[in-house]
Amino acid sequence: MAIDAPATRPANPRFSSGPCAKIPTFELAKLADASLGRSHRAAVGKAKLKAAIDGTREILGIPDDYRIGIVPASDTGAVEMALWSMLGARGVEMLAWESFGAGWVTDVVKQLKLDNATVKTAEYGEIVDLSSVDFAHDVVFTWNGTTSGVRVPNGDWIADDRDGLTICDATSAAFAQDLPWPKLDVTTFSWQKVLGGEAAHGMLILSPRAVERLESYTPPWPLPKIFRMTKGGKLNEGIFVGETINTPSMLAVEDYLVSLDWARSVGGLKGLIARADANTRAVVDFVETHDWIDVLPRDPATMSNTSVCLKFTDPRIKDGAGFAKAVAKRLEGEGVAYDIGAYRDAPPGLRIWCGGTVETANVQALMPWIEWAFQTEIAAQS
Ligand SMILES: Cc1ncc(COP(=O)(O)O)c(C=O)c1O
Repeated sequence: MAIDAPATRPANPRFSSGPCAKIPTFELAKLADASLGRSHRAAVGKAKLKAAIDGTREILGIPDDYRIGIVPASDTGAVEMALWSMLGARGVEMLAWESFGAGWVTDVVKQLKLDNATVKTAEYGEIVDLSSVDFAHDVVFTWNGTTSGVRVPNGDWIADDRDGLTICDATSAAFAQDLPWPKLDVTTFSWQKVLGGEAAHGMLILSPRAVERLESYTPPWPLPKIFRMTKGGKLNEGIFVGETINTPSMLAVEDYLVSLDWARSVGGLKGLIARADANTRAVVDFVETHDWIDVLPRDPATMSNTSVCLKFTDPRIKDGAGFAKAVAKRLEGEGVAYDIGAYRDAPPGLRIWCGGTVETANVQALMPWIEWAFQTEIAAQS
């Protein structure tokens, strides 16, 4: 039976999983202090780039002996820089349970063509057997699988005395989940994700062991300039104090600095995690009280608090993909939720971004609209 549209709308309908909602206090005027039309190598530009690195370290609690670099091409650039620069020195285990992890498998198996790669995969909603990972190898994995909403539960499965490196795509986890730095040798993320920044640049975080790899191993394949982190066998330390390899967007840098300030204002990492958890709770509370919708992750311990993926379970639904698309379209048409259709490679359903830049009141206001769209679509198909 079709139901009436809810009376209240989310004040902000932006629930996209990337680029994610900007900070709630965002306005373009906040970027007025950007160092525009000046060299990024001038003192003012360099100071801003360094502030971006220092603020990242402060808020994420990154150890002093880890390097943090701003690199080209968003999170993808940061991950590929690491894969191309470090892999091949020993065997590698590739762990993938959704689309982005699968993309890194393609890089390693089809592009780099490493013959000593072991690929471990799981279906959407599941995770690979983490207890089977051999840390004599390098290990590449995604902390939070954005397209399935499945994350690793913690870092306990990562050996402290590992010989290989851990290379972790944490783009939809950083600033929303605790990352155990001693377990992570290479960590990447993009400004466009949890802090709602812009997509131009990636962040590449290296442990001392990752630096050691860079300085002791030269891959047999050519490296383009934007991937090169060493000079004459030594780390190019400039990259990790803000001397970027090529020209960054100083507007994007300013936007990131503004986002970091906002992150401080909500209590830093703890506050950001609490906001993401509260948003996720609002979705889960709804799911638990409605029998036609469920979360995609099978094990609650692996459920994301950022990219919350849902599936419709009503037996009356005839065409799952068409139904989910139609629901998302209705919500977009009403201006109550943008971009919440499941990712193109994922099972049909909805994906609601719950990172800290989203206000809980807006998630709560969205839930009755999902019920409205669901009931309206069920009525329309019969
Ligand atoms: C887990 C994961 N890895 C990589 C990417 C690619 O990020 P970017 O487009 O910022 O390079 C995304 C984007 O959604 C992602 O969610």
